[in-house]
Amino acid sequence: MLYTVPVRQTICWLYACLREYLPSALPTHRTTTSIEQEEFFAMEVIIKENPEAMGKLAAELIAEVVRRKPKCVLGLATGSTPLPTYKELIRLHKNEGLDFSRVTTFNLDEYVGLVHEHDQSYHYFMWENLFKQINVNPKSVHVPDGMAKDIPAFCRWYEEQIVKAGGVDMQLLGIGSNGHIAFNEPGSSLGSRTRVKTLDDGTRQDNARFFKSMNEVPKYAITMGIGTIMDARQLILLANGAGKAEAIKQTCEGPITAMVPATVVQLHPKATIIVDKPAATKLTRDYPAEPRVLVLN
Ligand code: GLP
Repeated sequence: MLYTVPVRQTICWLYACLREYLPSALPTHRTTTSIEQEEFFAMEVIIKENPEAMGKLAAELIAEVVRRKPKCVLGLATGSTPLPTYKELIRLHKNEGLDFSRVTTFNLDEYVGLVHEHDQSYHYFMWENLFKQINVNPKSVHVPDGMAKDIPAFCRWYEEQIVKAGGVDMQLLGIGSNGHIAFNEPGSSLGSRTRVKTLDDGTRQDNARFFKSMNEVPKYAITMGIGTIMDARQLILLANGAGKAEAIKQTCEGPITAMVPATVVQLHPKATIIVDKPAATKLTRDYPAEPRVLVLN
């Protein structure tokens, strides 16, 4: 259009004048993140008595999201640590009617080369320990496909699905004894997206307890990236047992470094780290047993 440029220039000039002389006349643009930052501003650390109490609190925080936003997107984790959380979510569904029918889920990771029916695949784990026992729509459940023929294409698709679903509202995380989150091993780029990672020897040894022999432990995994995880609107990181004490010390009180990927959580505006007493033994500060309610106006 002939008048497009002058009209746009005039609008820009008017806007600049208003911003200079009458800023209160302009709407304030607040993104979701800035609102959430105002509400919480930081990561909080909570020490519970035992894994069951951790699971109850984590499940309650997740349930709060599901009740507030029935069509929410949950990011889910595997490993032994989230099991009490899943047990409590199942109880909330069965006894208190917590409704998952409109919820979409995305899992963090999956071993490359394990069929979905393999009892150590994360597909199998999620169906056995959660999905089968709640009313989530199977079509709304996403676990990375470790059998995908074209893994890079699959990883791109997975990222697109997360965006299409509206982004993750609440991401649950465990932590490896080396400080990994999902399968982002030490040295992973802090901005990484979903991709294949080679598993560290230590991680394979930690997870060997679930396989018949070390040879059977997969060498590769598909994992959401650290950047993908940090995009979630809210994070809960769980750790229990003395074996996680050093990783938790670094995560809560150490410097942010790609060599301990979980330390990046310090930069998240709404993250809750829930640990039990043995995992908290190396922490040097005082932390509460309940989340604080912080309202900043
Ligand atoms: C695996 C998973 C991680 C999990 C970790 C800890 O490596 N990829 O997501 O956090 O195990 O497992 P556990 O909870 O059994 O200690």
